Amino acid sequence: MKKNKTKIKGMFNTISKEYDMLNNIITFGQHKNWKSKIFKLAESKNPKLILDLATGTADIAILSAKLKNCKVIGLDISKKMLSIGQKKIDNLCLNDKIKLELGDAECINYKDGFFDMITIGYGVRNFENLENGLNECKRVLKKSGCMIILETSVPRNKIIKFFYLIYTTYFIHLIGKIFSKQPSAYKYLHKSSNTFPSGKNFEKILSKIGFKNIISYELLFGASSIYIAEK
Ligand SMILES: C[S@@+](CC[C@H](N)C(=O)[O-])C[C@H]1O[C@@H](n2cnc3c(N)ncnc32)[C@H](O)[C@@H]1O
Repeated sequence: MKKNKTKIKGMFNTISKEYDMLNNIITFGQHKNWKSKIFKLAESKNPKLILDLATGTADIAILSAKLKNCKVIGLDISKKMLSIGQKKIDNLCLNDKIKLELGDAECINYKDGFFDMITIGYGVRNFENLENGLNECKRVLKKSGCMIILETSVPRNKIIKFFYLIYTTYFIHLIGKIFSKQPSAYKYLHKSSNTFPSGKNFEKILSKIGFKNIISYELLFGASSIYIAEK
């Protein structure tokens, strides 16, 4: 599926105000549990500086800020998604731990080996050029640094996949039509989820970029997956 960065930025700017609410509806609140899994995985690695790419409304950055002696930089191309995230950070008085920045994951404005860890929640499938984005992740990660990616995937079990595709095709479109300022965004979200490489296919891409010790976990019968990879 061909992606256009300007369109993706515009789309997330338009849906920014509804994003958190619709994410709760579409995942039945499960995205919070899945993001907490990133926190638990991150905790075991004891990072001091994390880059949360495609941070959006900053949920993962806020969770990671709970890690001891750890600072987080959250980067996103959508100004409006960031401004929702910034309000949450202000309300939680976390400005000394998290800094949000407008920027492009495919051209990261930090020097090589700067970060101990990179986290990305539902971001990689939106990259215009996936390999450019992943190469940038590898570049700014310290040697042996860890990257944790949470992304949608398609269940492998045929029966579960059948119901999953019905759900994503009809329910997500309907939710978009009822609640969204831009219903076409939800068609894009569903289409990009169903066509993005997942499981072993995504692991192969990470390996081609040069990541090592790649592990993946399926969540909710494979509706989302977590990938852990080291530089
Ligand atoms: C589905 S949201 C995920 C937000 C958040 N990480 C979460 O888990 O809720 C995807 C985010 O990726 C951002 N994004 C897409 N392409 C990007 C890029 N090239 N660089 C930085 N952010 C990007 C969008 O602006 C959007 O905020």
